Amino acid sequence: EKGGFASFMDKEIHDQPKAVADTLLGRTDLKGRLALDDLRIDEAVLRSIDKIIVVACGTAAYSGHVAKYAIEHWCRIPVEVELAHEFRYRDPVVNEKTLVVAVTQSGETMDTLMAVRHAREQGAKVISIVNTHGSTIPRESDAVLYTHAGPEIAVASTKAFLAQITAAYLLGLYLAQLRGNKFPDEIDEILDELRAMPAKIQEVLDRGARVREIARWMADTSSVLFLGRHVGFPVALEGALKLKELAYIHAEGFAAGELKHGPIALIEPGQPVFVIVPSPRGRDSLHAKVISNIQEIRARGARTLVIAEDGDEAVVPYADEVFWVPQAPTLLAPLLTVVPLQLFACELSTARGLDVDQPRNLAKSVTVE
Ligand code: BG6
Repeated sequence: EKGGFASFMDKEIHDQPKAVADTLLGRTDLKGRLALDDLRIDEAVLRSIDKIIVVACGTAAYSGHVAKYAIEHWCRIPVEVELAHEFRYRDPVVNEKTLVVAVTQSGETMDTLMAVRHAREQGAKVISIVNTHGSTIPRESDAVLYTHAGPEIAVASTKAFLAQITAAYLLGLYLAQLRGNKFPDEIDEILDELRAMPAKIQEVLDRGARVREIARWMADTSSVLFLGRHVGFPVALEGALKLKELAYIHAEGFAAGELKHGPIALIEPGQPVFVIVPSPRGRDSLHAKVISNIQEIRARGARTLVIAEDGDEAVVPYADEVFWVPQAPTLLAPLLTVVPLQLFACELSTARGLDVDQPRNLAKSVTVE
């Protein structure tokens, strides 16, 4: 049931601290080591893999984009992310040394299932990250890492997305531990940060009133752009997808670095642009580059809606509006920065009188190719 919320989506957005906490639960042993018991793949095989390909569709694929940044950084294994339907039909280079990670909420998406089958036919091992127990994709995978988000009813994915990102972090840390890329205390440190995320997600939800208010004011907007860099890029893509799905508004997500290679031509006075700013405590150059992107679009009249970390005063002069999120390590920040964008899309859809839970033309699980 909706538990007092106006829609399942609203409820599921508010379930996210628990979805992340539950996905982390019980996955470290008493010594603090990661113990992903559900990964029944031989450790020697996992040590020998030389490439990971994440296959998924829609929102699940964006969790794969976040996974790429984290897993490459922690494990030094090349990671590709590919839409399952593209992967299946382009004769990909896959062999016994490839680990394919299939990410899916329903476990039934036909495009993803076909990618899993194709990968296994080529000799690859497949780990699926799945929310629905008893579904088809985990049965056809070599191993499964369940996300414990609970049933997701709204067609557009929210809490499953955060749980997928969390599971991908766990997989990355597990591989780093197994392959000796990180010292145990480094892994412990990241796990501690990860365990602190549910309370920070709650904090973002508690601050949600302002983004909802702005969404109601913007109910008649015809186009919104989203810019992000590094892990903020998939967050921008997801923010745009949510707005298309729920509010039927033309929305595009861009890598902020692409701005001058094309998208800046779209900026005209009054154009709303969300910008996801990386932590100033992370890599300096990254933060500075996004700040200068905000300046560039503002100078051309864009209305800048900025998502930034608490204390990042550098954004203030160029922001028409700032949505603050608690401090977190750069790689983990998507668990926070996507939340205002979910709230925005949900509220804007409602303000337009639309059915947030059942957007037109969409199905929760697409079981045909
Ligand atoms: C779409 C849903 O049809 O499928 C999205 O509307 C979802 O919300 C996508 O992200 C992938 O589905 P699944 O079940 O494989 O995660």
